[in-house]
Amino acid sequence: MKMIAGSAAVAAAVTAAGLPYEKIDTTFYRLSSKKIRNPMRIVVLADLHDQDYGKHMEKLTEKIHPLKPDLILLPGDLCEEKKNDEHSFCLIDQLKQYPMIYSTGNHEEHRPDLPTLLYKIRKMGVSIPEQRSDVLEICGNTLEVVALPCVKRESFYDPADVSGKFRTDAYRILMSHRPNWVDLYGQIDCDLIVCGHAHGGQWRCPPLHRGLVAPSVGLFPKYTEGIHDINGRKMMISRGLTKKTHGVIRLFNDPEIVVLDLEGEM
Ligand SMILES: [Fe+2]
Repeated sequence: MKMIAGSAAVAAAVTAAGLPYEKIDTTFYRLSSKKIRNPMRIVVLADLHDQDYGKHMEKLTEKIHPLKPDLILLPGDLCEEKKNDEHSFCLIDQLKQYPMIYSTGNHEEHRPDLPTLLYKIRKMGVSIPEQRSDVLEICGNTLEVVALPCVKRESFYDPADVSGKFRTDAYRILMSHRPNWVDLYGQIDCDLIVCGHAHGGQWRCPPLHRGLVAPSVGLFPKYTEGIHDINGRKMMISRGLTKKTHGVIRLFNDPEIVVLDLEGEM
């Protein structure tokens, strides 16, 4: 009996140690390309799921402003089906001084009011370049961004059609929520794919640096965080900012802000 109580106490202590309290990780990656002339910084905010981060979303914004982003990317699941978008819209409002680009996630694609939601996000000054790419001049660099809608199946997309959405030879960024569509991404003519969705595998195993589960992929998925080389392109996966998914809390997996520092190649 004592042994069971002792094991339960150890399990409770381990669980408590891994809960996402107030800590938010900021992860920095450096990416170089011949297409980049001057250093610039992109901040990626994925999978907020309308999570509350305090009054005026300050617990989050106080970490973002000091990073001085040149561009902010929101690659899906900013909102949720059964929430009122209060915290998502507040975050956009608090960050309106920065150029922002958004692509949908599965939780937004499920919403019957999706067209209204996209209208509201655009009205707040956030670009959603689904049909036609955005060409941006930032810090003396030209970037081109396409936001791929988060449909259910990878086979919905033809790689040539997606590549055709880009119009220039600038540094090409594809925003696409799902990280497991690597066969598709490996055929698209772009430089960087920015994803979320996997929430770092929800529960992470610290010694293994592995996530436990990802939606529509299953146990111990390969793509839950980090930078990956996909047939010569870079794919970045953010662990995202929500603390819970379907009521299940994250473990050993703090919410994450990702910083992508772009620089020229020597
Ligand atoms: Fe998500």
